[in-house]
This record gives sequence, C-alpha cells and structure tokens, in this order.
Amino acid sequence: MSNFSIDPVVFDALASFKTPEQLGFGRVKSPVMYRANCIDGEWQAGEVGLYAPISVDPAAKVLHYAQEVFEGLKAYRVGERKPNFFRPLKNQQRMAFSARRMVMPEVPPEVFMEGISAITGLSKDLIPVKSGESLYLRPFLIGMTGELGMAPSSEYAFLVIASPSQAYHAGHMKVLIEREGCRAAVGGTGAAKTGGNYAAATLSAKRTQARGYHQSLWLDPVKRENVEELSGMNLFALIDGELHTPELTPTFLEGITRDSVIDLAKHLGHQVVERTIPIEELLQDIRSGRCTEVFACGTAAIISPVSVIADADDTAYELPQVDDLAATLRSRLLDIQERRSEDPFGWVVELEDEYYNLAETNAGAAEAS
Ligand SMILES: Cc1ncc(COP(=O)(O)O)c(C=O)c1O
Repeated sequence: MSNFSIDPVVFDALASFKTPEQLGFGRVKSPVMYRANCIDGEWQAGEVGLYAPISVDPAAKVLHYAQEVFEGLKAYRVGERKPNFFRPLKNQQRMAFSARRMVMPEVPPEVFMEGISAITGLSKDLIPVKSGESLYLRPFLIGMTGELGMAPSSEYAFLVIASPSQAYHAGHMKVLIEREGCRAAVGGTGAAKTGGNYAAATLSAKRTQARGYHQSLWLDPVKRENVEELSGMNLFALIDGELHTPELTPTFLEGITRDSVIDLAKHLGHQVVERTIPIEELLQDIRSGRCTEVFACGTAAIISPVSVIADADDTAYELPQVDDLAATLRSRLLDIQERRSEDPFGWVVELEDEYYNLAETNAGAAEAS
C-alpha cells in the first residue's frame, strides 16, 4: 500500500458532487486533488485533499520564471467497470524529460502513478462513461521557492487535478499557417511540456481564431519552411496513400498519441513515413491531389480531421477527403483506450484495486468508528 494520506473531508465532497450535463473540456473539476512536495531533492509523502486554491509565495519561481512542467492524460471507464489509463508511464517519462530541461526534480514513476491513481480511484463515479469522454488528468510540477534570484527552486510541489471532460475539439478543423511567429526556438524548450511554450503560442492562437480558424500550424523556427505541429496536437498527412508525419525535432513536442498512431497505422498495414515535410510541398501536394487527407492528434483532441489549411493571405487549401482514414484510426484507437477491443500493444493500464477501493475502504472505516 502506498503511504499517502487522505483528508476525510474529501469523501463528503465526492458524495455530494453533482456532475453537470454539459461537460465541455477542462471546465468541471473533480473536488479532490493530490499533492506531494519535494524539498531539497527529497520526496515527501503524498496527500489528497479538497480541490482548492493553493498557497504560493508571491516571489515563487513558478510565478516569475515559469519554472513549471505539466502533463495531460486520461482515465477511461467506458468499456469496463474499472477505470484504465493509456500509456501513463510515457507521460511520466515525458514529464521527467521536461523537468530535466527546466532544472526541476523528476517525479518518480511511483509518485506519478500514486497521484493519478488516487485521484482516479476517488473520482471513479465522476468518470463519464460515454465513448470519447473521460476523466482528463492534469499532473503538474511547480517551483515553489520564494526568492527572486534567477536560480532553480529548492522546493517543488507536484499536484494532480482532474476534470470529467468531453473531447477537446470534436469536428473538422481549419488551420492557419503561422508565417510570422515562432512557438519555440532552437536550443529552447519546444520539446518540453512547459507553460512558457503555451504562453508563447497564445498570441498566435488569438489572431488565428479572430480570423475564423481553429488552430495555428507552426513551422520550424529557423527556416520557417517545414511543418512542425499545432499548438496542442501533432499532424499527419496522407500523401500518395502513405501516412506522413513530421520527424521529431527539438522544437516540438513528442506526442504520445502521435507515437500510438504510428504504431496503430503500421499495425493496420499502412506505410508510415517520418520525415521533414516542407510546407510548400504539402500545399502543392494538396493542390495536385497527391495529399488527400490531413489530421491532427493529441490526448485531448484524440484524432481530429483537418478540412482546410490556409495561408497567411487566406488562400485556402481544401482537403478532398475529410475524416476518412482519421475516422478509422480514431475508432481503432478509442476501441483500445476504451477497452472494446484487444490491445496488442500493451498500452492499457488498469487502475489498481487498492485505488479502486479507496472510497469503499473509507466508508467501511467510517462505519466501524
Ligand atoms: C504542443 C503539443 N503538441 C502535441 C501534443 C500531443 O501530445 P499527446 O499526444 O501526448 O497528448 C500536445 C498535447 O499534449 C501538445 O501540447
């Protein structure tokens, strides 16, 4: 048994929690949160308490120097009674990579798993059971030391919060090529999941949306010639019947869905090519009909079709095929994630009993006392 504690007030909060009809994405929050502190490199025992504002020193590193990293993953409870995760240790590993880049301690696998498992187990009755919906989990690590000098923190807080959610963007996306700004620099933090990258992308997102598009399409930050990703999703294009995706660079995020789509598509007999994709070539391929379909993927968005890629002057490149291969891959991926089909890859991780039974254990203890 893990040695984290639970504030008993959470059980009342969970019992009286009413899940709204309309979930949206990331808006509704489970009333519980997990926290483990790391002080001078030593991890302290985890604690589960009520979801509530946290106390942060106004001089904390996270507030001034953005010393933070985060993850996003889901707990599913569609196909089976017991919730399950999808490749959670990939998230732990990516968070460790991000933490090293931001000079932060790595959250050990056992702490990471304890945090997401405790919140999922306690929130199990809040997990939506409709296909495509899930409990979105947001683990994050922040530098808490209250000193204004430019140096890493000595104290960190690792927290996990959760949100019963619908898919992030269900529908056809129009994307706009970002010709002006960059999301991340060479030698910067683009491959880490850290807040600064998202802050840097916000202005572009605002402009893109004001022009009637859904997402900015980022090019490489040096030559501005090659396709990288969207602000929260990776990209695939079906060209001459083969599935092409930008090969990883240090300036964009290695998506776990991207990795899974590559394996799944190969498993289904598709040729998958990871390579540098010049934007002009992609646009030309759409014009000539060689590129028939484009889609984006990410944990939150699952697999979302792209209907139009537009250039800065609004020239629109419409995809002849929308949500064809994307729909097949999405349903195959969801079948695995939601446990309707075999999982030949060993991606699904079921919530352990000790966490599944947390609420019952407490009810029993309360009755006995
Ligand atoms: C910038 C960025 N790219 C890609 C992705 C997709 O990654 P994943 O499939 O692991 O969710 C995300 C989402 O986490 C992201 O924030």
